[in-house]
Amino acid sequence: MSKLRSNSRASAPAKVILFGEHFVIYNNPAILMSIDKRILVNAQLISDHGIHILSEFQEPLRCTFSGGKLNKFDEVGKSPLFPICDAILRSIPDKIHDTGIEISIESDIPIGVGLGSSAASCVATVAAVGNLFRNPDRRSICLKAMESEALIHKGSSGADCFAATYGGMIYYIKNRGFNRVKSHEKLHLLLINTGVKHSTWSMVSKVEDFKKQNISRFKEVCKRAYEICDKGRAALQSGDQEEIGILMNENHKLLQTVGASHEKVDELVELCNKNGALGSKLTGAGGGGSVIALVKERDYYRFTLELIGRKYEALPVTIDNIGLEIH
Ligand code: MEV
Repeated sequence: MSKLRSNSRASAPAKVILFGEHFVIYNNPAILMSIDKRILVNAQLISDHGIHILSEFQEPLRCTFSGGKLNKFDEVGKSPLFPICDAILRSIPDKIHDTGIEISIESDIPIGVGLGSSAASCVATVAAVGNLFRNPDRRSICLKAMESEALIHKGSSGADCFAATYGGMIYYIKNRGFNRVKSHEKLHLLLINTGVKHSTWSMVSKVEDFKKQNISRFKEVCKRAYEICDKGRAALQSGDQEEIGILMNENHKLLQTVGASHEKVDELVELCNKNGALGSKLTGAGGGGSVIALVKERDYYRFTLELIGRKYEALPVTIDNIGLEIH
């Protein structure tokens, strides 16, 4: 295997989850929508036999590897950039022994607010580095990125990596893949940041604890979450926005039940609904992070101003139909 090029760039989008987060880990479906916020990774071959990762958000990480394995693994393993480092190593073919890789990461995806920044960065890294050596296909990129992302989000469903790779709106079930969902109408969605950062992993563990302590209740909640997701898909396809809103509110209540919400999230959901949202819910792992609200077109401007007036960061959400792009 030789090198194809000395420089390559790839980008991948953030996502919101409209229905089914957390329950998707337990083989339920989830509906995800990729959004127009991206992470861009530039990869280049370097003569130094190491891995250099430069990111605007973290301290740079420099390490060396030999025989496909990291040197000083314990030290590198503590860095928040470790999954990216792992994604790089996975993407260098075995028989390449005489090169190093430097990547730089630029992003307009806010971190730690449920938008899938770590999955998008793993997907874009695997694609940019893999593309230095071969023309990688989407499926293998997605699967490698899932393995790297799972280093921080243990037990991850892989949903975020699928959204970052394939773009658009998807109905996803773990280990089964996804079907596309074609929304009948343009959705007027607003993403509102609670300002409370969370760790996906700790929220996933919290829900797992709930499950262990409330086995039959959890089963019932999962069953209803499944129905909501299926009804949500039908409502998206038929353009029944009132129904989508009702289902989002109900989905939020189920997430509250299993302990995935947070007082700031609940306050914000209530505020959105009082101000005329058709429905709203936490999106992503919860415990803070972001709320997604569906609003009627005619109310969108007023609704957004109301939230901004209350000093919330409110971001209009537009679907990304591209997914992973190798530039
Ligand atoms: C995080 O974006 C979504 C969760 O369901 C975790 C996962 O699916 O791996 C909370």
